[in-house]
Amino acid sequence: MTRTVYVNGEFLPEQEAKISVFDRGFLFADGVYEVTSVLDGRLVDNPAHLKRLHRSLNELEMAAPATDDEIVGIQQALVEKNHLREGMIYLQVTRGAAERDFNYPDDAEPSLVMFIQEKNILLDPRVETGISIITTDDIRWRRRDIKTVGLLAASMAKMVAKKAGADDAWMVEEGFITEGSSNNAYIIQGDGTLVTRHLGNEILSGITRQAVLKLAAETDINIEERPFTVAEAEQAREAFITSATTLVMPVVAINGRQIADGKPGALTRRLREIYIQNALQASAAA
Ligand code: PDD
Repeated sequence: MTRTVYVNGEFLPEQEAKISVFDRGFLFADGVYEVTSVLDGRLVDNPAHLKRLHRSLNELEMAAPATDDEIVGIQQALVEKNHLREGMIYLQVTRGAAERDFNYPDDAEPSLVMFIQEKNILLDPRVETGISIITTDDIRWRRRDIKTVGLLAASMAKMVAKKAGADDAWMVEEGFITEGSSNNAYIIQGDGTLVTRHLGNEILSGITRQAVLKLAAETDINIEERPFTVAEAEQAREAFITSATTLVMPVVAINGRQIADGKPGALTRRLREIYIQNALQASAAA
């Protein structure tokens, strides 16, 4: 089926959607993006995604291509035009087309692209089995708090995992886990404490992370936001990742070693349930 995508003011069949070869997103990875999940035809946590988009744009001194109301209007039009029930909306802003020059151009028009992808998020079969991860060196740049389209290091980390027969990779810097290749990383210690790295330039401030930590605190789960080591992860009682497209996803093996009994942990499953319940209620009310 041909999708309808959005490019700079137009809704087009995907084959007809085009961007200039001079676009700085293409030449310099000079662009930022957001991924918002769609459940039951509704956007999840979208205001928080738009807030983070503005933060990314500000950090790069990039102009917003449209108002938030316009962006939401386009997102909703894409959901409708593509009859999307479950999946995600991808949104990318680049600095636009300009003569190739490292300096930011003064006069480029930012470009805005959006498309949808269908995906089974709620009934993802990996929720039942859990996923396996390996750890690998975090070779990314030092502003991982900005959600840029410079994702080659993340692709490389995922390929390291794939070649090792694992589902995904957690990245390690100076002995501590930073985050997953495209998600935030968590462990639950033997005493039930949930541990995830604190925010900073070293990781992306996940929107799902923000929601899950709030729900965990309301559920009286003890939370520590601090760096944790690979050894701590391997000895954890449970582990999981969060992102817009996986929500809360159990991790059952690290570096070929089973975590606890090798099954998705009880607290992880509970957090996933609470997160989904909350997301469906909140998006229905919006
Ligand atoms: N990735 N950390 C990184 C490096 C990410 O790329 C992502 C999201 C997250 C989780 O953020 P959020 O909860 O806001 O989705 C953390 C998206 C899903 C992607 O690139 O496809």
